[in-house]
Amino acid sequence: MKNIIDSRKLKELYLEFFKQKNHKVISNSSLIPEEDPTVLFTTAGMHPLVRYILGQHHPLGKRLANVQKCLRTDDIEEVGDNSHLTFFEMLGNWSLGDYWKEDAIKWSWEFLTDKRYLGIPKEKLYISVFAGDKDAPRDDESAKIWASLGVPKEKIFYFPKKDNWWGPAGDTGPCGPDTEMFYDTGKEPCGKDCKPGCSCGKYFEIWNDVFMQYSKTAEGKYELLKQKNVDTGMGVERTVVALQNKKSVYEIETFKPIVDKIKEIAKLGLHDDKRELSVRIIADHVRTSTFILAEEISPSNVDRGYILRRLVRRAIRHGKLIGIEQEFLDELVEIVIDIYGQEHPHLKSNEQFILSELKKEELKFRNTLAHGLKKFEESAKQVKKIDGKNAFLLFQSFGFPIEMTVELGKEAGIEVDEKGFDEEFKKHQQISRVGAEKKFKGGLSDASELTTKLHTATHLLNEAIRKVFKRRDIIQKGSNITPERLRFDFNFERKLTDAEIRKIEDLVNKQIKKCLEVVREEMTVEDAKRRDAQGVFEHKYAERVSVYSIGDFSIEICGGPHVKNTRELGKFKIIKEESVAAGIRRIKAIVE
Ligand code: ALA
Repeated sequence: MKNIIDSRKLKELYLEFFKQKNHKVISNSSLIPEEDPTVLFTTAGMHPLVRYILGQHHPLGKRLANVQKCLRTDDIEEVGDNSHLTFFEMLGNWSLGDYWKEDAIKWSWEFLTDKRYLGIPKEKLYISVFAGDKDAPRDDESAKIWASLGVPKEKIFYFPKKDNWWGPAGDTGPCGPDTEMFYDTGKEPCGKDCKPGCSCGKYFEIWNDVFMQYSKTAEGKYELLKQKNVDTGMGVERTVVALQNKKSVYEIETFKPIVDKIKEIAKLGLHDDKRELSVRIIADHVRTSTFILAEEISPSNVDRGYILRRLVRRAIRHGKLIGIEQEFLDELVEIVIDIYGQEHPHLKSNEQFILSELKKEELKFRNTLAHGLKKFEESAKQVKKIDGKNAFLLFQSFGFPIEMTVELGKEAGIEVDEKGFDEEFKKHQQISRVGAEKKFKGGLSDASELTTKLHTATHLLNEAIRKVFKRRDIIQKGSNITPERLRFDFNFERKLTDAEIRKIEDLVNKQIKKCLEVVREEMTVEDAKRRDAQGVFEHKYAERVSVYSIGDFSIEICGGPHVKNTRELGKFKIIKEESVAAGIRRIKAIVE
């Protein structure tokens, strides 16, 4: 059985196993964490579950499992080795205040080693547990459980917080000690100290059982949560490598067709090791970019759009390094959609958007890449360090993300002043890259200029829909705003016609052109209702609320933020209209 387990089979076996252990399977959530503003992307299966980990009752019970698509860029420097990826699929099972260490560990071991499931030889597996520190005790309990299952003591390692503690995903929130399972690839140890966690790649971490018992506070304290939770994560790609005895994730069935195509386009021999790193980086970045684009995110200079831009441009530059001068990303994206489209239908339904956004970005960057590289080489010849001004020039005039300039610097053995770049960036009134990165790791929710504009645009849209249909019973049923777009749900029984969409758009744009003032007032909920303010009245509002009016056009209860005058919005455009549930329509729109 061992040799035929591919990604699909692994997922099937995993969900089947946990169903037998009375778990309910929950859906694969969006890469954009709708419930967790502390991170830009879903980095683990626990994001959609945070409030249940904190104690709220989950409608499906206390035992859950799923396959979750995840995106992390903190390992981006490692991409190209045998196991690190920016996009990956993760299997997870959760106990929300139900089972604890004993069951979690026993089931992990059973699933990994039992011949009816993965059948990994026991001698191939190594374990790590938390060594303990001032915040939480050494996890002897887990070590004992592993030993009771027959894992020899010398294969159980105690590591500190930096290795054996997971979370919080942002700066604060649920976290806890973990126990990790490593697969020994059989490679020679790199030295005397080679052990699980060693960067030489002899051991792959394949599964992580987190005992989420703590919550990290803003002051950096670890407080006990109301309940003890288990949060586990098993990387699909890495586990398949282990099961199929492959050397790297790039050889498994979900990567090989992409890698082969890159080699074909670049006319590389199958074993051109020198160029292998670029091939791997392109394969990883194209796959990740496809999944970001499928969330209808476009390349930009902020937040998610910036991460996307970085990945796409890095892929193009690595293409150039291996001799690809023509447009090539679309061919690869089609392969990614082919591989994943059935399981992730949004890749297929958004195929046109993905391809056209990518094409635009590729064309834009190809136009400046060669000149930018020349400029870099000239500067690199003249100076020992690329200063902030030059790094910024490469960004502004040639579209080089700073990370690319740093990478070029490394290749040329020359330093790049990143701090100087950030200062230049700030001077030019752009949102700081550092800000975006921090948020990626988990800063606070976003109140950037774009988001603010989209908040105000949402109020205009909300009212415009009612006015176009001359119906006051149409109300907001949901709203979600990211710096890339607004999303607005409302009750309506059928698809909107193109003409209706244009009418709504025009009415919003007319208000923008009128330069209406946006005014905030505080009043009681009763007064707000008397003034016919819109609001989501199933919400419990505080006694006094903020009410925003936009000229005489709209009045709505809202926490903000908003622009001061509609003239700040630019042009409003509806990019999508679709159904989300019976009788509920969804509009996505942008301001340009
Ligand atoms: N949340 C844990 C991880 O991502 C399971 O490793």
